[in-house]
Amino acid sequence: MLILGIESSCDETAISVSRNGREILSNCVLSQIDMHAVYGGVVPEIASRKHIEVISGLAEQAIREAGITRKELNAIAVTYAPGLIGALLVGVNFAKAAALALGIPIIPVHHIRGHIAANYIAFPELKPPFVCLSVSGGNTLILDVRDYTDTVIMGSTRDDAAGECFDKIARVLGMPYPGGAALDRLSYGGNANAFKLPRSKVDGAELDMSFSGLKTAALNIIHNAEQKGEELNVPDLCASFVSAVEDTLVPRTMEALKRTGYGKLAIAGGVSANSHIRAAFERECRKTGAELYMPPLKLCGDNGAMIACQGYYEYLAGNIAGQELNAVASLPVERGSYCGK
Ligand code: KG4
Repeated sequence: MLILGIESSCDETAISVSRNGREILSNCVLSQIDMHAVYGGVVPEIASRKHIEVISGLAEQAIREAGITRKELNAIAVTYAPGLIGALLVGVNFAKAAALALGIPIIPVHHIRGHIAANYIAFPELKPPFVCLSVSGGNTLILDVRDYTDTVIMGSTRDDAAGECFDKIARVLGMPYPGGAALDRLSYGGNANAFKLPRSKVDGAELDMSFSGLKTAALNIIHNAEQKGEELNVPDLCASFVSAVEDTLVPRTMEALKRTGYGKLAIAGGVSANSHIRAAFERECRKTGAELYMPPLKLCGDNGAMIACQGYYEYLAGNIAGQELNAVASLPVERGSYCGK
């Protein structure tokens, strides 16, 4: 089965062709980062406009690079939730028009389920159930992936997403948007114990997380140094910050893994590219004997292949849409299966 996968929920237009879910025939990504970097963050209106400009050319490219013709496509999978509503609508409407023209079904895919599916592409042997930490600019979730289309939230952030904090601190330190990867690199020259930063706990919800206190504490250190005219040791602050994020994410995820008894852990989303977090999971999984699945960096960020792959499993579960499909800005992953009008 050949599926065209479309992702346009934020600042990447990404289109891919997959065969039977896990075989990726093409994976084309057009990032808008340069356009948003001048504003220090994603500007929704610019994102929508840019998606409109490039989406049909990129679909043609994905089909060409896959070595097929559009008539050979069997279905179109598209991210329909969650994300920037204008950006999502571009992908959804393109998918509807293309599906109508080709007479093939539309498969709505929840963005977070797509991120989880990046692991199916990278690891053909991986099958649910497993625990997945999905951590990016918009979400931080510890998930019980019971089946391909059955995901339950075990823990989540109560406020900011981890990636949002990376980007905010990086921006105030003068790094270009999105600064997560740059902050990761800078942290290597620093001492992780130099600054005492909080590791917040949520009362009565051991697996839930909070990052806003950490973000504020780090920002206060930067502003204090500025006001006093003191020189800030930036690598030390980066290393201390990354260490606090690691201490928040890793023990909770390992606890969730223990509770399920699955013995299989996957990570997903842009922040899962962080080298310290990856190294910490490697260490912990070696200690406990759990199997660890970490997709390559190019599959951690937003891409169309993950949507095409998850689309295959949504199709098998019967989660198919018609021309009534609409985009949804906010939708919990637990309700990610499309269930009609
Ligand atoms: O999954 P993604 O591409 O987009 C969504 O948010 O859905 O994730 C982007 C986020 C940004 O916040 C970016 O700064 C962060 O992932 N990121 C990193 C690293 N690489 C990307 N954060 C920490 N360390 C990294 N190496």
